[in-house]
Amino acid sequence: MNSDLHTFLRTRRSVRRFKPEAVQAATIQRILETATFAPSAHNLQPWRFAILTSLESKFHLAEAISARFSEDMLADGIPETDIQIRVERSIRRAREAPVIIVFCHDSTRVDPQPNAISQQAEAIMGIQSTATAGLQLLLAAHAEGLAGTWICWPLFAPQETLAALNLPVDWEPQGMIFLGYPAESPAAPERVRLEEIVKWI
Ligand SMILES: Cc1cc2nc3c(=O)[nH]c(=O)nc-3n(C[C@H](O)[C@H](O)[C@H](O)COP(=O)(O)O)c2cc1C
Repeated sequence: MNSDLHTFLRTRRSVRRFKPEAVQAATIQRILETATFAPSAHNLQPWRFAILTSLESKFHLAEAISARFSEDMLADGIPETDIQIRVERSIRRAREAPVIIVFCHDSTRVDPQPNAISQQAEAIMGIQSTATAGLQLLLAAHAEGLAGTWICWPLFAPQETLAALNLPVDWEPQGMIFLGYPAESPAAPERVRLEEIVKWI
């Protein structure tokens, strides 16, 4: 057993406050390379990444997603003043993240299947594979002394995400990682006890 590695895996944290320090392109490149060593169904490697480092691109994406969120919240009956506060907070968070990595599933990486069950299973496997790359990316960032948080917003505004970043229509946004040097050290959120989630058969 390599207890150092277990400690490494357990000390990755979702960090939401970053130092303003930029992250070198070479470091981002190394993290992405490591992310691509994640396992994938049939080794199809269906993950795709869009990297945002400029203030303009981060703002543009956050604004596009927020516009969609505002409409949805309005339809849900949330008061406009609350919506305004949430939108401003979201845009601020996106702008303050030194790097944003949007990760997508390439829907063309699913081979046609002979029946509906197989078709659905293969599509899910592609998305699961993309998620493994998301985790691997967070762990690679952790290895660099960086920290990130997986942000789900693009999943709720896929068209707006693609349009804002001018990405191919076959890329299905799954999430994004806010990445940077940590300006906080949050305690590990409590974990559910194994006794509650494991059945030894
Ligand atoms: C699929 C997924 C979606 C998430 N979405 C968000 C999000 O939108 N905003 C956020 O602040 N954190 C988000 N998180 C981070 C979780 O809140 C975090 O992983 C969890 O609280 C456990 O904390 P830890 O990562 O420090 O162990 C997401 C994590 C995952 C895996």
